Amino acid sequence: MSSLIQTLPKAELHIHIEGSLEPEMMFTLAQRNGIELPYASVAEIQAAYQFENLQSFLDLYYAGAQVLQTEQDFYDLTWAYLQKCAAQTVRHTEIFFDPQTHTDRGLPFEIVCNGITAALQAGREQLNVSSHLILCFLRHLSADDAMATLEQALPYQDRIIGVGLDSSELGHPPSKFQAVFDRARAEGFLTVAHAGEEGPPEYIWEALKLLKVSRIDHGVRCVEDPALVDYLGEHQIPLTVCPLSNVKLCVFDTMADHNLKTLLDQGLCVTVNSDDPAYFGGYLNENFEAIQTALALTDADLTQLAQNSFRAAFLSAADQQRLA
Ligand code: ADE
Ligand code: ZN
Repeated sequence: MSSLIQTLPKAELHIHIEGSLEPEMMFTLAQRNGIELPYASVAEIQAAYQFENLQSFLDLYYAGAQVLQTEQDFYDLTWAYLQKCAAQTVRHTEIFFDPQTHTDRGLPFEIVCNGITAALQAGREQLNVSSHLILCFLRHLSADDAMATLEQALPYQDRIIGVGLDSSELGHPPSKFQAVFDRARAEGFLTVAHAGEEGPPEYIWEALKLLKVSRIDHGVRCVEDPALVDYLGEHQIPLTVCPLSNVKLCVFDTMADHNLKTLLDQGLCVTVNSDDPAYFGGYLNENFEAIQTALALTDADLTQLAQNSFRAAFLSAADQQRLA
């Protein structure tokens, strides 16, 4: 791996903490919590990670998350990810969590939130990794469910900077969640949304115009609408692009087909992210390395991508300068 990638200060803005659950930890937590897994070994888990599309991944991702049961489990999960950040010169991270994946199976919101945020605090103090937490609503569930989840989050607002939208995209347009996002913004949360990963450019427009998001997560299908590409460039709306994820989930056939370099050359505020590193074969630096090789990125491109990550982060100008 190039020393530039290894040493560049970077921010990560699109990482689902449940997607950092490595097979080894899945086994450890299953044992600790007396849960039987449908796999006999780590190798068997890894062999199962062959996906045809987003849904085929989500089915395994939600199944894997069942091993997370206690506050300590959420702490350990988050701490392991933060250690990766420290090792990869990721100075700042904005972590997604999916509370409904856990509250739907009876875990209290409090356990999930306390475990994650205790680790984030330890990461600030012991690893010098800055962080924010973003709550994602599961778009395959109802808007009422999302609203109830937002209400559960209100007592924890000092620890949650924003809300987002993830899970199965097709058939669940951003417009379904307009009222929830209106309420979230009125309560003072910042907003982001997954859009244009598998869904059409129209979903990106809806996320911008109806949900009034600050960033688009993925957004790679924007290229199908030139007016949208112009808009994203003009307003410098960041795209949190996830290269290894996109290839693993067959959004692009190969990394050489990825449109990240094209978007960067068109002046869009593109950032690089890992999405679900334990499932897609790499953390942030491995994503950088994969695109550097396949798309012949220059050192100037890599530096621009790292700078974009701080510019797109929910950080003050002073903190951007301090961390970048
Ligand atoms: N949840 C975790 N990873 C996701 C992705 N890539 N798209 C939508 N929802 C997700
Ligand atoms: Zn994602």
